[in-house]
Amino acid sequence: MIQNWLEDRRLGRVQADVEIEAFVAGVVDGSVTRPQAAAWLAFVNCRGMTAPETAALTRAMTDSGERLAWPGIAGPFVDKHSTGGVGDKVSLILAPLWAELGLRVPMLSGRGLGITGGTLDKLESIPGYRTDLQAPELHQVLEEVGCFINGQTEQVAPADRILYALRDETGTVPSVPLITASILSKKLVAGLDRLVLDVKCGSGAFMHTRAEAEELAASLATVGAHSGLEVETHLSDMDTPLGCAIGNALEVVEAVECLQGGGPEDLRKLVVLLSGEGQRARDCLARGDAYPRWQALVRAHGGDPEAPLHGAGCAREVIEATASGRLQRLDAGLLGRAAWRLGAGRAKAGDPVHWGVGIVLHAQRGARVEAGQPLMTLFHAGQQLNQAGELARQAIDIGED
Ligand code: URA
Repeated sequence: MIQNWLEDRRLGRVQADVEIEAFVAGVVDGSVTRPQAAAWLAFVNCRGMTAPETAALTRAMTDSGERLAWPGIAGPFVDKHSTGGVGDKVSLILAPLWAELGLRVPMLSGRGLGITGGTLDKLESIPGYRTDLQAPELHQVLEEVGCFINGQTEQVAPADRILYALRDETGTVPSVPLITASILSKKLVAGLDRLVLDVKCGSGAFMHTRAEAEELAASLATVGAHSGLEVETHLSDMDTPLGCAIGNALEVVEAVECLQGGGPEDLRKLVVLLSGEGQRARDCLARGDAYPRWQALVRAHGGDPEAPLHGAGCAREVIEATASGRLQRLDAGLLGRAAWRLGAGRAKAGDPVHWGVGIVLHAQRGARVEAGQPLMTLFHAGQQLNQAGELARQAIDIGED
């Protein structure tokens, strides 16, 4: 059977819903081997899928495990998911912020994909934080704290758990049907009333052009609506990193700054926009009101919000401006690759990430800079520092106003 499915996909022939369901079931029960699944993903990545096939894949992945339900908890249940970017730590801020504003946020997130950081990897830089809570624990955390941020498990969205890691390892991430099914299958099991999707567009995203990002947004909205989920899509820039910090623990620090009333303005603005709560959200952030909720979230997941983050003690290398002028470009794709080289991401499933490495920007795009001024600091553990430094330097353009 799998040989026929592979041939169909290789030739770009449409598969029946039952065949897609059987493929997904085979991935989960192991009767489809990892190399076979990887080949199937590669063919989809190159030849695409029709919209009805994408809907069937989403359904099959959603039904691959349990659905979560929240009896006894009053909604509304909302969530936000990004299609992946560099420096994107919005989920860490938005979940406690929404909870503080009275919404309930059952958030299922993912690990880093390619050069884009993953919410779970960031959270695991907090000593003790568990991203594999089981359904009864999730219910309790949602009831007590108002939000959780957890991963896919063997029971919840298991197909995405396997395919997600395989796509990362095989470079088969930038595919509209695969991203659509991956994101929505996680969200459809979580019993949501509303889903906000941040579709990233630019060099540091999987969709490099606006047309590609619009295609992805349309696919997410169509399949979401088809599955009865209200989906709101926003397109946002990923030619430049979001905020100043890139890398797991570094991004947690910046998210906490934002929750305490500080942090970079572009990050705060995007959080407020995606929250849909306007001035209430802005005021809540400015007063630091959601920070105790963050502490409660971390404790409920077994973590210690006061403990030093994993990965502390990295060496530092500063990159300075080579000329005076306006900082015209800070390329998110190149900076993401630089952070990945330093060890912030993984080359294959199961590899450890280095929590402490990454980049902190000292100036943002558009700023006036002077020759010799520090533009960014690379936090490193000795790994591939020269290659990372080279990529980071290529990411910078300084020009006239
Ligand atoms: N986020 C996901 O959960 N899946 C993708 O494929 C991309 C971003």
